[in-house]
Amino acid sequence: MKIHLVSGGCGFVGRNVVKRLLNTTNDSIFFVDDLSIGRHPKQWLPGDFISEMKGDLEIIGEEKRLFFWKGDFRDLLFHLRQKPNYIQETYGIEFERFHDVFHFAAIVGGRLKIDGDPLMVALDLSIDSEFFYWITRHKPARVLYPSSSAAYPTSLQTTDGAIALSEGDIDFTKNLGTPDMTYGWTKLTGEFLAQIAAKHYGISIVCIRPFSGYGEDQETDYPVPAIALRAANKENPFEVWGSGKQGRDFVHIDDIIDFIQILMDNVSDGSAYNIGSGKLTSFLDLIDVFTTIAGYKPTIKPLLDKPVGVHSRYCDMSLVEEKFGWKAKISLEEGMRRVYEAAKLKG
Ligand SMILES: NC(=O)c1ccc[n+]([C@@H]2O[C@H](COP(=O)([O-])OP(=O)(O)OC[C@H]3O[C@@H](n4cnc5c(N)ncnc54)[C@H](O)[C@@H]3O)[C@@H](O)[C@H]2O)c1
Repeated sequence: MKIHLVSGGCGFVGRNVVKRLLNTTNDSIFFVDDLSIGRHPKQWLPGDFISEMKGDLEIIGEEKRLFFWKGDFRDLLFHLRQKPNYIQETYGIEFERFHDVFHFAAIVGGRLKIDGDPLMVALDLSIDSEFFYWITRHKPARVLYPSSSAAYPTSLQTTDGAIALSEGDIDFTKNLGTPDMTYGWTKLTGEFLAQIAAKHYGISIVCIRPFSGYGEDQETDYPVPAIALRAANKENPFEVWGSGKQGRDFVHIDDIIDFIQILMDNVSDGSAYNIGSGKLTSFLDLIDVFTTIAGYKPTIKPLLDKPVGVHSRYCDMSLVEEKFGWKAKISLEEGMRRVYEAAKLKG
């Protein structure tokens, strides 16, 4: 039996990966989440929800190939450190090792959390260090580590000096610059640990640097679904954080997952690749996209006391295009229309 592990499997990226694996493979999936942010699988798995408990493990679906372990991933990693076969022995699941391991458990959040509670976000260092140590012992077949565009030096994202960020702008053999708050530091550290896991321990691992991922089922503390919901409710005047001239590179979750699969098939040395559209979209433009879909033109009300982060963050996708021939397929207009339709249903 092939079994994959998804940490943070009830969060935005994690649950979309779980659903993709469920729909495109016959493999089993063991996923972990403490539900601090994530939603219980009965809220997002398709079809009728059937499950049974085996101790503290929830076995889901008629085919019994989904296993949900609710708790702090570090606690599970602690058990696995004490007893490498903890899962097999405790739950009677037979397998030798996990095939694909996707590590999405992290304290993330929008700008309010990144700027407002940086030392809570820094707890990601403890989740990641336990995780990296465990993979060197367990030796899964392949590992995906999600870094972030926040790992790039903020000095390259200023009002006057913003450039399209390319992979080489982070070079561990040179000066690294300063990433975005503790969130960016943990991701940069994670990338460094991934390279060490590959070089020193022979682990097959790849890192991704997603830019601003969005999708229909993202939490509304992220800007895209929040703006969609306000446009669906015809907010006027329309509030924007800061001047609204700050920009990001938006990429749909389905595109992110498509490219993750390509990367895991092709990269094993711990290197990191951008996932974005290569286009910079300001928040004013984003509001315009949504209000055009909603069919009205509001006046804009800037909220200058809100945190806005770096001025412009977008990527250069040429390395990815050259190496893998990959480009995001879902245009901004199409992706945002999908989010808008979902927001309208939620009301
Ligand atoms: N969404 C994006 O656009 C994006 C961009 C760049 C990087 N990433 C990275 O991808 C990963 C997933 O991001 P997301 O957007 O799905 O975030 P998310 O907050 O939706 O998901 C993270 C999940 O981890 C869970 N979690 C947190 N701490 C945990 C712990 N100690 N034990 C078990 N579960 C825990 C949360 O409950 C949540 O469900 C993160 O590492 C994030 O930094 C995401």
